[in-house]
Amino acid sequence: MAWAVSTAPMTQPFSAIVLAAGQGTRMKSALPKVLHHAAGIAMLDHVVRAAIAAGAREVVVVVGHGRDQVTEHLRARFGDQVHTAVQEEQKGTGHAVQCAMGALEGLRGDVVILSGDVPLLEANAVAQLLEVRRRDYGMKLALLTAELPDPTGYGRILRDERGSVLGIREHKDASTAERTIKEWNAGSYAVELAFLRRSLTQLRTENAQGELYLTDVVAMASQDGGAEGLRWSAESVMGVNDRSQLAIVDAILRERIATRWAQSGVTIRGLRSVFIDADVVVEPDATLEPGVHLRGKTIVRGSARIDVGCVLTDVEVHEGAYLKPYTIAEKSSIGPRAQIGPFSHLRPDTLLAEDTHVGNFVETKKTSMGKGSKANHLAYLGDGKIGEGVNVGAGTIFCNYDGFRKHTTTLEDGAFIGSDSQLVAPITIGKGAYVGTGTTVTRDVPADALAISRTKQENKEGYASRLKSRMQALAAADKKKA
Ligand code: UD1
Ligand code: CA
Repeated sequence: MAWAVSTAPMTQPFSAIVLAAGQGTRMKSALPKVLHHAAGIAMLDHVVRAAIAAGAREVVVVVGHGRDQVTEHLRARFGDQVHTAVQEEQKGTGHAVQCAMGALEGLRGDVVILSGDVPLLEANAVAQLLEVRRRDYGMKLALLTAELPDPTGYGRILRDERGSVLGIREHKDASTAERTIKEWNAGSYAVELAFLRRSLTQLRTENAQGELYLTDVVAMASQDGGAEGLRWSAESVMGVNDRSQLAIVDAILRERIATRWAQSGVTIRGLRSVFIDADVVVEPDATLEPGVHLRGKTIVRGSARIDVGCVLTDVEVHEGAYLKPYTIAEKSSIGPRAQIGPFSHLRPDTLLAEDTHVGNFVETKKTSMGKGSKANHLAYLGDGKIGEGVNVGAGTIFCNYDGFRKHTTTLEDGAFIGSDSQLVAPITIGKGAYVGTGTTVTRDVPADALAISRTKQENKEGYASRLKSRMQALAAADKKKA
């Protein structure tokens, strides 16, 4: 089996070309096909990463349709690790590779050619492909092949009676007999660079599509030293042409990622319901409950527990923190042993120190909270600087917005904010100060002071029953009229 080939360490450097100039019409999208996401990152990112992880020295991505967007994306993601080559007009895969050759001038060794729309291909496939190419000195090219009961549309692998690869016949050019061949070309190749340079100049457009076929290079290799096919799983080389295939690929990637984290020591209950993006990190002994979504660059440290239905985007959760069900958080940091939720909403720039508690229906934004501070119920904490050991009572509102500007609310260490208080920012509540329940605080409160702003209470003895009978009589009169 092809799987059994061991991955030898790659000593000789190689280059990679990733084809990504096609339009992807069937995606029916304004976004270039290769920028559509699978497991939280662009399809193209998966392919480029596989090449880099396998040891590619330089990666050249051939761009065409949506080239500005794709180029900008690559620059932001990979910096100068990845180059682009422009293919103005899409005249076929052979032409696309011709366009990339300028970027590889002066280089020797091997080049791996991959498609930007095959995101399930992994680094070990690239490594093994190279190994097959290099196993035999004369061998010029190795390619991945797969089998399907009905490979309609794909290029078919032509072999002689001894099994040697003779070439590839594109579906549109194939005879009825050739169309019965089940083995097809997956579109991933390892080729000796010098041979590729020579062969590309010999490509011709005499074929059903009038294109320059990269696949014609395979027959040339077969005549010049040899070409070999490495059989791979059809699933891993699946290309994405429309969004139903994108959905399949996304599901496979997510299961792969979750399975990998589970194998590395993360407890995942309901593995298929847990969605972990490709760039997320989860440390051993963390626990993820069903329906958890970890997005972007989220990091979950050891022994943290993320309960049912939490959605975290670019969040760092430290050791021992417990996120109760349905906590939603973005661009935030949750300290060691903090307890959050259920139903908390942490918006960007929420920084919660160790042992903090943020409870039900509390919304935070651009707010830091010191060690051991608590806001357990129904509060809005926006633009806040909260010290250590502060208690924020139920229903507290930081009135941070005057309709034009945002202002800061500062609660110094040990302050106590009674329930249902409004703190009208900019405002500072001093160290250890106490805000009485239901107070609207509009002026700074000095350390250790009590602020209270409610009206005096009056009790009218025996008044309740008199009031009730009066209202009862009014209700009876209404009923009679109706
Ligand atoms: C190609 C192969 C076919 C193989 C199939 C696997 C050729 C001639 N045929 O088919 O044997 O079974 O892939 O999926 O190579 N691209 C460019 N510029 C172009 C044309 C294509 O960059 O001018 C890129 C596309 O964006 C895509 C990749 O090359 O990433 C493959 O192109 P696609 O049109 O899907 O290949 P097919 O011709 O269908
Ligand atoms: Ca295709």
